[in-house]
Amino acid sequence: MGEAKPVPRHIGIIMDGNGRWAKRRGLPRTFGHRAGVEAFERICDYAVTLGVECLTFYAFSTENWRRPPEEVQAIMELFRRQLDEMERRKEENERKGFRIQYIGALDEGGPVPQDVLRKIRQMEAETSAKTRMVVNIAVNYGGQQEILAAARRLARRCLDGELEPEALTEEDLAGGLYTAGLPAPDLIIRPSGELRLSNFLLWQSAYAELWFSDILWPDFQPADLDAAIADYGRRQRRFGDIL
Ligand code: IPE
Ligand code: IPE
Ligand code: MG
Repeated sequence: MGEAKPVPRHIGIIMDGNGRWAKRRGLPRTFGHRAGVEAFERICDYAVTLGVECLTFYAFSTENWRRPPEEVQAIMELFRRQLDEMERRKEENERKGFRIQYIGALDEGGPVPQDVLRKIRQMEAETSAKTRMVVNIAVNYGGQQEILAAARRLARRCLDGELEPEALTEEDLAGGLYTAGLPAPDLIIRPSGELRLSNFLLWQSAYAELWFSDILWPDFQPADLDAAIADYGRRQRRFGDIL
């Protein structure tokens, strides 16, 4: 018997390629986003069986507002429907033990519609006691904006005399990010053939292993997650040290 393969505690997933998936089928881009939601559910259900503690999905970036308003509206409508669907399947989700959290700039008065924010807060409250797996969904999320917001709060506390700038630590900054309290992502998966992070978990991914694939997100299967985790298991994580 070989050694048990390490399972990443926290996996980040950039759900990319929905538009191209639809285009290849001669369908409107929105159909790709819909198929992307199914892949999201499939991968949540599978990851939990592997013992992954936390999954963070990139669903909508701060830069995605640049898209045509029809597409943005269609995506917001999908969030609405997805939240309603999760609410309808409350008991099933209770059993699964997912703690659902949304990360991003989700303040009142921001660009995310009010009713979507309300549903988000309700979903978070209803699942807050669940402990089997944390599912973070990044909406109106940007890594640079996240770091800037944390830095602003620290600056304010310095001006208020609560903190000394020279005494600030990495932990102080990390503690002000949306992912405070969670382990840093061990593995970041980006399908769709793009080789970039697109403003995803910039601080947190300092030592993440990156895994890229040409698969389009709606086609992503449990076997692809297995492949990513198997590759991860073969990486040597040195964190600057020597082995
Ligand atoms: C990812 O798929 C979903 C969002 C960014 C909201 P895309 O919509 O970016 O799909 P492609 O990259 O155009 O294929
Ligand atoms: C990254 O995908 C954001 C999400 C998947 C939510 P994009 O499609 O927005 O990334 P770029 O524009 O190709 O970098
Ligand atoms: Mg894309």
